[in-house]
Amino acid sequence: MKEQIKKAFADHFGGEGILFVSPGRFNLIGEHTDYNGGFVFPGAIDKVIMADIRPNGTDRCRVYSLDLNETAEFGLREEDAPEQQWARYVFGVCREVIKRGGKVEGFDAVFAGNVPLGAGLSSSAALESCFANALNDLFNDNRFPKMELAKIGQSTEHNYCGVNCGIMDQFASVHGKKDHLMRLDCRSGEFEYFPIKLDGYKLVLVDSRVKHELVDSPYNKRRESCERVAKKLGVETLRDADMDMLNAIKDQISEEDYKRAEYVIGEKQRVLDVCDALLKGDLETVGKRMYETHEGLSKLYEVSCEELDYLNDIAKECGVSGSRIMGGGFGGCTVNLVKDELYDNFIETAKRKFNERYGHEPKIYPVIVSDGSRRYVEE
Ligand code: GLA
Repeated sequence: MKEQIKKAFADHFGGEGILFVSPGRFNLIGEHTDYNGGFVFPGAIDKVIMADIRPNGTDRCRVYSLDLNETAEFGLREEDAPEQQWARYVFGVCREVIKRGGKVEGFDAVFAGNVPLGAGLSSSAALESCFANALNDLFNDNRFPKMELAKIGQSTEHNYCGVNCGIMDQFASVHGKKDHLMRLDCRSGEFEYFPIKLDGYKLVLVDSRVKHELVDSPYNKRRESCERVAKKLGVETLRDADMDMLNAIKDQISEEDYKRAEYVIGEKQRVLDVCDALLKGDLETVGKRMYETHEGLSKLYEVSCEELDYLNDIAKECGVSGSRIMGGGFGGCTVNLVKDELYDNFIETAKRKFNERYGHEPKIYPVIVSDGSRRYVEE
């Protein structure tokens, strides 16, 4: 990927820029909890967006997407927003840096990636984090702290891309650390690195290749449900709610909102349980909680789909310790915790059975927990 990017840069703009990379993420547990002030437990993965960038001494940006073979050119004022959706991510990041008092000047850039699109692995967060980190480095002496870079990406989604997302994806892309998961308290912003020890087990993503699109998806609706319930309860977010409180207002909210909140309240505890279990090396408990999360996401939060429920059933049949839909939902991947000795059979069975029913095989990505946003250095 690096050579192709360098070549495309030379062809389009002449010479070369500085390379930056940012990863996609997976999440062990803690889904749809970030915008509810709860906990998430993600890690960065080995699939990245890579960009070669060079200031061009003007007030315009020229960005070439190698994967799409498309160029976008835009200025840096609000009214200069480009048409192409992909370019709005880059433009949005520029604007959000400027809004925070940062400096952005014109630049030329070429980028490409191997984070599968629409698979729930946060390709958009990887793109935002890559540019946020690059602009911080090239124009701002790295004065923005990492968490601010994550917020720049998140605000880009809110203000330029129509997704009212939480902070998890951008946080994970920016802060990722090889062989570590991160437990983030989304209310306080505090987080801890957890070394990931999987003695005798593997983590693997099974991608249904059902595309999910969070823009105009019911994602924003889920968030609205949660906010309505929190308001009714008189708390800032559902982080501060428990089942007794929820039951006390049951007849004042819709059945649907009740189910959404019930899921979120359950998930809050599951993340904490999983962290404890992981520290004790009790991976069977980790797995059990993952199945419970799947059940909640499917039946209460209703962000699963037939294909993902089927993958979850196959996992159960194969004796996989834990399996659940991952990310925003409505398609994408399941994350699976599998004993080494069951791994090959699970992968083979998932491919075969899924193919028999849906006419294509799922894609398999072993989870390799990797570093976050950085200037690219040869490894
Ligand atoms: C998407 C959002 C995140 C988070 C997850 C669900 O990936 O971007 O902020 O809400 O869905 O956990």
